[in-house]
Amino acid sequence: MDMESLQSDLKQYGQEHLSKFWPELTESDKEHLYKELSGMNLQEVTAFFKTAEKSLQNASEKIDDHLQPLSADVCGSLARCDKATLKNYQHQGLTAIGDGKVAVLLLAGGQGTRLGVPYPKGMYNVGLPSRKTLYQLQAERILKVQKLAQLTRGQKCVVPWYIMTSEHTKEPTLEFFTKHNYFGLQKENVIIFEQNLLPCFDFDGKIILQTPSKVALAPDGNGGLYRALRDSKVLDNMEQRGIQYIHVYCVDNILVKMADPVFIGFCISKGANCGAKVVEKAFPTEAVGVVCKVDGRYQVVEYSEITLKTAEKRNADGRLTFSAGNICNHFFTFDFLKHVSHPAQEAQLKHHVAKKKIPYVADDGSLHKPTKPNGIKMEKFVFDVFQFATDRNFAVWEVLREDEFSPLKNADTEAKDTQTTCRHSLYSLHHRYILTAGGKFIQKDGTPLPDIPRTVQNGKGDRRQTSDHHSDDDLIVCEISPLVSYAGEGLEDLVQGKSFLCPVLIELQNGEPSIHQSNGQ
Ligand code: UTP
Repeated sequence: MDMESLQSDLKQYGQEHLSKFWPELTESDKEHLYKELSGMNLQEVTAFFKTAEKSLQNASEKIDDHLQPLSADVCGSLARCDKATLKNYQHQGLTAIGDGKVAVLLLAGGQGTRLGVPYPKGMYNVGLPSRKTLYQLQAERILKVQKLAQLTRGQKCVVPWYIMTSEHTKEPTLEFFTKHNYFGLQKENVIIFEQNLLPCFDFDGKIILQTPSKVALAPDGNGGLYRALRDSKVLDNMEQRGIQYIHVYCVDNILVKMADPVFIGFCISKGANCGAKVVEKAFPTEAVGVVCKVDGRYQVVEYSEITLKTAEKRNADGRLTFSAGNICNHFFTFDFLKHVSHPAQEAQLKHHVAKKKIPYVADDGSLHKPTKPNGIKMEKFVFDVFQFATDRNFAVWEVLREDEFSPLKNADTEAKDTQTTCRHSLYSLHHRYILTAGGKFIQKDGTPLPDIPRTVQNGKGDRRQTSDHHSDDDLIVCEISPLVSYAGEGLEDLVQGKSFLCPVLIELQNGEPSIHQSNGQ
C-alpha cells in the first residue's frame, strides 16, 4: 500500500479527510479503504461533482421556451392503429426474434429505497395466487415469446437476457437464479453484469465516508448502462450472438412485455435505431417525464422542468401537447447502442443530481443516519441517449397504460405503485384476456359478474378511502401464467363459453394448460 502517494492524490482533489481514521483502522480495514480509494478516479469523480453542482444551481430553471412536441412522423399508437397494421408489426417482431436477432436487457441495479426491502426488487413477490416473483414472471415471458417466434419462423430461437445489476443486487440475483434453475432458461443465455458505483458527496464537494473505512457509494444511475456495456464486454457478447435489436426495460413494471413483438416490429418498420414505448399522460400535473424535443434534440423532460401552462397545453383535438409519458421501455439497434456507449458519446451524458439522506461517520467515529438530505447522489439516465437520435431514426410507440404499465415503487403504506396496485393491474388485464377469449365470471351463487372490470387501483371507487385497500376480496382475482399466454393469445379453446369462480389461476402443468379455481374445477 503506497499511502504516501494516495494521500497526495487525495490532497490534490480536496479529499484528504477520507484518510482521517487511518491510524485507528485494523489491517483489514486499511486494506479495504486503500482498495476503495486507490481504485477511484478522483480527477473524474470530482469533475463530475463540479458539473453536477452547476445543474443543482439551475434546478429550478424552467425550459418551456425550448420545448417542441413530437412530430406525427415519429409517433405510432396501438389504440389508433388498424388491426392489419398491428398484425404486420407483430409478424415483423416475431420474425426478428425467430431469427435470433433480438435480446432483452433488464435494468436492475437500483437500490429500491422507496420499496425498502433488503433484497433486489426482481425477487419481490407481490402476492399473486402463483406467488411468482417479478424475475420469474419475466423469465416466463421470455420463454413464451421464444415459443411464439418459433411458431412464426419454424425454428428454435433464443432471446438472450442481459441483466444489469449493481454491487447491491448482483450476488443475490445470481444466487436467486441459480436456486431457481434460471426458471427454465439456459444459464448461458442469462448474462448478469454489473454497473459502476460513484461516491456520494456532501454539498461542499467532499466525498462522504459512510464508516471509518468505507466510502458512501451509490450506483451511477440506469444510464450507467452504457459504460457498463463497454466495461463488461456485453457489447462483444451481443455482437458474437448476432443481436441486432435490444429491448431495454425496468425491473419493476409487473406488466412489462419482454421483447414485445409489436413494439419491435413498429420500430423496425419505421427504420428506427432508437425507440421509446410511452403511455399517454393521465392529467397535466402527473409527475411523469415526457418524451419531446428540446432545442431540436429528443429528450425526456421532467414535470418539474416546465411550467403548469406548458403542462396544460392542448392540441386542437384536445389531447395534451406534451403527452408522451416515459415508462423506461426502450428499443435500440445494436449499432446505436455501440455508438452511444463509445466514450466520446457516453461522456456527453450529464449526471442528474438528487439530494439524499446519506449515512455517514462523524469526526468522533459515530455512525449517523440523517433525517434530512445531507448530500448528493449523481446518476445518468438511460433515456439521455435520445439526444443522439434524429428525426429519421427515432420512434415513439404509445400503448395503453392499463395493459402495459404498473410499476412497483413504494411500500404498501403508499397509495400508488405498490405491490397491491401491481397485483390488481395484473388481475384486471388477465380478467380482460378471459373475457375477450369468450369466458365469463360468476359469483358463488351462480349469478354472472359484470363484464366491465372494476378499476385497477381499487375495488370500491377511491381506494385510498377504503380501510381494506390491500385486500383482494372484492376483486376478480385472475392470473394466467405467461407460459400459457404472452398477451392474451391462445386462450379461446381453454375458456370460451366457460364460467369461472374467483380466484382463477391458469398454469402450465406437464406442458398442458390447467385451470384452478375456487370451486376446485
Ligand atoms: P428507479 O429510479 O425507480 O430507482 O429505477 P429504484 O432504485 O428502483 O428505486 P428508488 O428510487 O431507490 O426507490 C428505475 C429502474 O432503473 C434501475 C432500477 O433497478 C429500475 O429498474 N436502476 C436505477 C438501475 O439499473 N441502476 C441505477 O443506478 C438506478
